[in-house]
Amino acid sequence: QAVKLRSRRPWPRAGAGSRIVARAGGYKVAILGAAGGIGQPLSLLIKMSPLVSALHLYDIVDVEGVTADLGHCNTPAKVVGFTGQEDLAGCLAGADVVVIPAGVPRKPGMTRDDLFSINAGIVKELVEAVADHAPGSLIHIISNPVNSTVPIAAELLKQKGVYDPRKLFGVTTLDVVRANTFVAEKKNLPLADVDVPVVGGHAGATILPLLSKARPKTSFTDEEVEELTARIQNAGTEVVEAKAGGGSATLSMAYAAARFIEASLRGLDGDGDVYECSYVPSQAAVPELPFFASRVKLGRDGVEEVVAAELRGLTHFEARALEALKPQLKASIDKGVAYAQQQP
Ligand code: NAD
Ligand code: LMR
Repeated sequence: QAVKLRSRRPWPRAGAGSRIVARAGGYKVAILGAAGGIGQPLSLLIKMSPLVSALHLYDIVDVEGVTADLGHCNTPAKVVGFTGQEDLAGCLAGADVVVIPAGVPRKPGMTRDDLFSINAGIVKELVEAVADHAPGSLIHIISNPVNSTVPIAAELLKQKGVYDPRKLFGVTTLDVVRANTFVAEKKNLPLADVDVPVVGGHAGATILPLLSKARPKTSFTDEEVEELTARIQNAGTEVVEAKAGGGSATLSMAYAAARFIEASLRGLDGDGDVYECSYVPSQAAVPELPFFASRVKLGRDGVEEVVAAELRGLTHFEARALEALKPQLKASIDKGVAYAQQQP
């Protein structure tokens, strides 16, 4: 059976009359960290989604203003703001998708792993609340270091007895969005046609674009492969340096997260043809790595299939890069698991 290798429909234009008809009442999306650099534009994009009927915004600061502001947009989703830990239950009750962009961003000179000490605790607090109040929801983790925060979440959900590996995602869509943009620019291709799978993880050398699997089929010189791979791997740092202390990618990240949320909702809605890359708990692609970013098929219960076949027939460059990333990714996974297991 032929496998479609991309999420079929891009983010729909507002009012374009998507073919998808939302289930009665639409979906409830909760965004935790909604007043932040990513949270605000992401909330706006989700407010525009025809699939969403309720948008719950949570943050420890400033959420009232964001809620009042967004609430004036004449799109159907009803926006409700929540703040303070005691409000988490109300925010999360009945959520279909919970998105977590809460946490501190990098400054120049930092690695994503440098964020671990602060963000691990934030993710812990929020994932435990999701386990208690929205145990059946899809959980999208944006907070860095994604290579470790997703394993932390998995362990905590296990401890709470509500772990479903099909429903936990590290959001790596921005790597795909960047790869598509850079390849289209380099090879002068129409942007809307380009689709480059990005596998592995979400930090430095663990970000592995599979240029040999790019659609449309495109040939690259060895120099182009090296240059494009390095640019995609360092794109986050490119933004961190350009912002010069003002944070990391927010607008492109919001765009990418909105694309991933929309894809997930289409999957929940029964569209049988939704594929995106994501960092998921599965050993189907690389048996020795319990978490790995792969292209996945999204369905009514989250991940329906990991497209492991995409890792076959790699070029020498890609195969070497895959071998090289394994120890780094494994160390980040182990660090996250150890952190969660040490928690009281
Ligand atoms: P930001 O500082 O602008 O916003 C973070 C928000 O989280 C703030 O509003 C803050 O009040 C909130 N927050 C902090 N602790 C909280 C808690 N306990 N509960 C709820 N909210 C809390 O940062 P940002 O630029 O939006 O980035 C957020 C995170 O996303 C960072 O860790 C960053 O590294 C990561 N990020 C990931 C990707 C990716 O591709 N996965 C891309 C860009 C950024
Ligand atoms: C990104 O890729 O832009 C994010 O992971 C943020 C960062 O720190 O680079």
